[in-house]
Amino acid sequence: MSDLELTVNGHSYDVRGARVGISLAQVLREELGMTGTKIACNEGHCGACTVQIDGVPTLSCITLAHAVEGEVTTIEGLREHPLVDAFVQADAVQCGFCTPGQVVSAAALVAANPTPTVDEIRHHMAGNICRCGTYPRIEEAILHWRD
Ligand code: FES
Ligand code: FES
Repeated sequence: MSDLELTVNGHSYDVRGARVGISLAQVLREELGMTGTKIACNEGHCGACTVQIDGVPTLSCITLAHAVEGEVTTIEGLREHPLVDAFVQADAVQCGFCTPGQVVSAAALVAANPTPTVDEIRHHMAGNICRCGTYPRIEEAILHWRD
């Protein structure tokens, strides 16, 4: 057990007695109640657990919470991002399980490159798997996120 300080969505949190080896995804969901971050494969393969650390998309299921040094942004911190509406408008959500990770990844992309090409979108989003196959609609949402 070891205390843990995290900055998430602009707020500082002290997590008392976090067990050593706990993942960032588990801390977010179980200790901080931020269940928007999903855990699917829990092995770093699917992207469902994607958060940003200092703006960089990061797989929180394979990130040790005690090793986090930067500021964490989760889907809860992106509620007002225009991409959320763009996903809805493009009907890019089916079951919705992958959607938080998709939006977190896409937000990092458009922050660095507001007008990505389809190839750039595909390259950047390659780590985010959608079992419902909404990829064309996700691409549409990212292409038109500012409309
Ligand atoms: S749950 Fe983290 S990559 Fe799949
Ligand atoms: S919308 Fe169902 S997994 Fe992507």
